[in-house]
Amino acid sequence: MDYSVKFTQDIIAFMTKILSLVNQKGGVGKTTSSVNISVSMAAAEIETLLIDFDPQANATTGISNLIEKNGQSIYDALIRDTNINDVINPTQFAYLDVITSENDLVGAEIELVNIMAREYQLKTLLETLKRKYEYIVIDCPPSLGLLTINALAASDAVLIPIQCEYYALEGLGQLLNTIRLVQKHINSKLGIAGVLLTMYDSRLNLSKEVADEVREYFEEKLFETVIHRNVRLGEAPSFGKPALLYDANSTGAQNYLSLVEELLERV
Ligand SMILES: Nc1ncnc2c1ncn2[C@@H]1O[C@H](COP(=O)(O)OP(=O)(O)OP(=O)(O)O)[C@@H](O)[C@H]1O
Ligand SMILES: [Mg+2]
Repeated sequence: MDYSVKFTQDIIAFMTKILSLVNQKGGVGKTTSSVNISVSMAAAEIETLLIDFDPQANATTGISNLIEKNGQSIYDALIRDTNINDVINPTQFAYLDVITSENDLVGAEIELVNIMAREYQLKTLLETLKRKYEYIVIDCPPSLGLLTINALAASDAVLIPIQCEYYALEGLGQLLNTIRLVQKHINSKLGIAGVLLTMYDSRLNLSKEVADEVREYFEEKLFETVIHRNVRLGEAPSFGKPALLYDANSTGAQNYLSLVEELLERV
């Protein structure tokens, strides 16, 4: 037995993987995917931390039924110097913790500007987490501002959700360019975990056309799993629950379970 190899494998096995869901386009399924990916990981007994990094706080609302909120949010850690370990909320799942967001986070885009190493604030905070998570999933706001840059600086990989709609590819050039700039100047280890088609409707030619176009452009980066348009995915957040707890057999819940299987092989 070569113990140095074993040791290296152990370290690799314990390294946290940080995944950001990014697309500056609004309403493409970033939050729905962040919440349901995190919960599917936890269901597979993978230690997961979900961070709501969007001032709209939709992920926080969408999972509110599972968490005992401690009243503090990512904003407290990022701007008010609260220890990040104190803003973590446990959930009903032993394997899932959540850091919530609040509307004040909108101010962070401006407040961060005057802070030294402003792009690295989140990364620095995450390095001080006491509990060792296997995955950290970050739900980003629909912009490429400083919050998203902080998420990218801290991440190992990005997942790009694309809605199967008109103008689906609009703005992707700008997004890919931002990722390239971050790779070059801020975080050379950042990779693209994959591109995810969301709200796919198999009855519509448009969905098929968008899927073909995205596949042609991204090739193997496109996840084989497609998230279908599913009413349950839209309804679940209003009950503060992920799809897996709202209706485990729904297409939406099942789609996210398959996606996570695929994702775990990539990141
Ligand atoms: N597969 C789906 N089927 C049906 N409805 C969906 C699906 N995915 C997302 N939705 C609904 O579409 C809306 C937008 O989704 P979501 O909030 O996840 O997008 P987002 O990219 O996070 O938006 P924002 O840019 O505002 O943060 C929500 O009302 C959500 O419930
Ligand atoms: Mg969102």
